Amino acid sequence: MVLEKWFRSILLLVGIFTNALGAFVGVNIGTDVSNMPSASDVVAMLKANQITHIRLYDANNHILEALSNSGIEVIVGLTNEEVLGIGESPSAAAAWVNENVASYMPSTNITAIAVGSEVLTSIPNAAPVLVTAMNYLHKALVASNLNYQVKVSTPQSMDIIPKPFPPSTATFNSSWNSTLYQVLQFLKNTNSYYMLNAYPYYGYTNGNGIFPIDYALFQPLASVKQIVDPNTLFQYNSMFDAMVDATYYSIDALNFSGIPVVVTEAGWPWLGGANEPDATIENAETFNSNLIRRVLNDSGPPSQPNTPINTYIYELFNEDKRTGPVSEKNWGIFFTNESAVYPLSLSSSNRITGNSSVVFCVAKDNADSDKLQEGLNWACGQGHANCNAIQAGQPCYNPDTVESHASYAYNDYYQNMRSVGGTCDFQGTATTTTNDPSYGSCIYTGSSNLTTGGGITPTPAFGPVSPEGGSMKLPVSELQSLIAATFLALILL
Ligand SMILES: *[C@@H]1O[C@H](CO)[C@@H](O)[C@H](O)[C@H]1NC(C)=O
Ligand SMILES: *[C@@H]1O[C@H](CO)[C@@H](O)[C@H](O)[C@H]1NC(C)=O
Ligand SMILES: *[C@@H]1O[C@H](CO)[C@@H](O)[C@H](O)[C@H]1NC(C)=O
Ligand SMILES: *[C@@H]1O[C@H](CO)[C@@H](O)[C@H](O)[C@H]1NC(C)=O
Ligand SMILES: *[C@@H]1O[C@H](CO)[C@@H](O)[C@H](O)[C@H]1NC(C)=O
Ligand SMILES: *[C@@H]1O[C@H](CO)[C@@H](O)[C@H](O)[C@H]1NC(C)=O
Ligand SMILES: *[C@@H]1O[C@H](CO)[C@@H](O)[C@H](O)[C@H]1NC(C)=O
Repeated sequence: MVLEKWFRSILLLVGIFTNALGAFVGVNIGTDVSNMPSASDVVAMLKANQITHIRLYDANNHILEALSNSGIEVIVGLTNEEVLGIGESPSAAAAWVNENVASYMPSTNITAIAVGSEVLTSIPNAAPVLVTAMNYLHKALVASNLNYQVKVSTPQSMDIIPKPFPPSTATFNSSWNSTLYQVLQFLKNTNSYYMLNAYPYYGYTNGNGIFPIDYALFQPLASVKQIVDPNTLFQYNSMFDAMVDATYYSIDALNFSGIPVVVTEAGWPWLGGANEPDATIENAETFNSNLIRRVLNDSGPPSQPNTPINTYIYELFNEDKRTGPVSEKNWGIFFTNESAVYPLSLSSSNRITGNSSVVFCVAKDNADSDKLQEGLNWACGQGHANCNAIQAGQPCYNPDTVESHASYAYNDYYQNMRSVGGTCDFQGTATTTTNDPSYGSCIYTGSSNLTTGGGITPTPAFGPVSPEGGSMKLPVSELQSLIAATFLALILL
């Protein structure tokens, strides 16, 4: 009954995000993988880990079929090779949409088409037809009456923003002005969004030591250092925020506004070659857990505080068949045997579960509801479980289902009584799991999330910058000589 569990998690999500802006963290699925699990195994794995949003680099028909009725939202992709052909032929675009989108809708929830992957920097010769391809695809969606559900956009690398720091002065490389102007016009007209691939890993490793690694990893900087944009005085707690803001300012410099930025790729490799010392499991775990916490706090970057930064982690599996340095093959968060490379918790209802030593007790998916009700009554009564959290108005009340309430009560009983012989059985309606069942502000007893408030508390960082607060600002000119011309952050010492 994985499906039922899945629907339950959908309910949980709705419950959590109704009054929030509802940022999400999705996952990219590249398929240059030896021993790629079958499509149905991949989908089962996504569900088991409560992954609600994915991006594919193509329109793999096995995966799209397996996603049917899963509720998972999917970005499908045109490969760079496909962009040229589609950009020259409206009928090819219509055929592509029919075959790869329309035929799976609505049972597979395709929400966007990503046109190519970093086209401007990977295959610049396709730039002249990029927007034409986007237009043809959009028209084909209109003809199929899918244009309201499926957006068209095109993921771009940070490399098209030559000087991302400080964010307020960032602009796109002006060689691309006219293409990007058309892209933005298209996104604006079709109510779509800008797709950004943002890699603090590269910002850090190519930065020649200008930025501390903690800044790339969303870790608090040494208490005396702050990274502040000298023009806006916005403090940037992470390079990720600065990259997203650099993109907003670049869009603004072309006189567009109101186009949200969605991060279609962000991640950290966990293994690298001898010359890639920062590609470690520890850094990858730190980056991705902090990234998840950052995104799920729902806030935007400093210039757009109310626009959440929806983000897709790169990537589900190591793509060992890719060429390039060792790190290129080691961005996966799962092995193909489906075990996690390192523990990663989305610390909200949609979390990726790694290795947790806490054993929780929850209702079985297919349990008889009368027995669940009896178990619930017993746990909160004779069992002395603390059932306050599942009362109306309390954090675990929603979803208001007997399974959900029983899970909470069973677990509270079990955590308190296990050491004195309490079991996780409840007439066969309960089962143990190491997956932390907490979601949003509903924190299960025993969860290590107790202090993080369901992932919406910020990484403990320094307080807001206070320009007169005893810090000394370096003059920008001095800084310019201090850091290479490519980078221009103001570091308060
Ligand atoms: C598909 O995803 C969209 C976007 O979040 C959502 O509004 C819609 O309800 C989903 N459709 C289905 C059939 O799940
Ligand atoms: C801008 O893009 C052009 C064309 O790709 C490239 O030749 C040039 O080096 C880029 N400029 C900068 C400053 O990155
Ligand atoms: C490109 O656009 C920027 C604003 O983003 C502007 O400052 C610059 O002058 C433009 N360059 C060209 C060559 O049009
Ligand atoms: C943006 O608008 C300003 C003010 O109207 C104008 O001066 C500038 O040239 C415009 N920039 C671009 C890149 O279109
Ligand atoms: C899964 O594969 C990885 C890498 O090959 C290995 O280290 C790990 O032990 C495997 N886990 C299980 C449960 O087989
Ligand atoms: C899980 O944690 C235990 C104890 O810390 C360790 O022995 C085990 O190898 C871990 N398993 C995985 C898959 O990381
Ligand atoms: C969310 O994260 C941002 C960026 O780190 C931080 O400035 C903000 O205070 C956090 N907001 C909340 C509500 O946790």
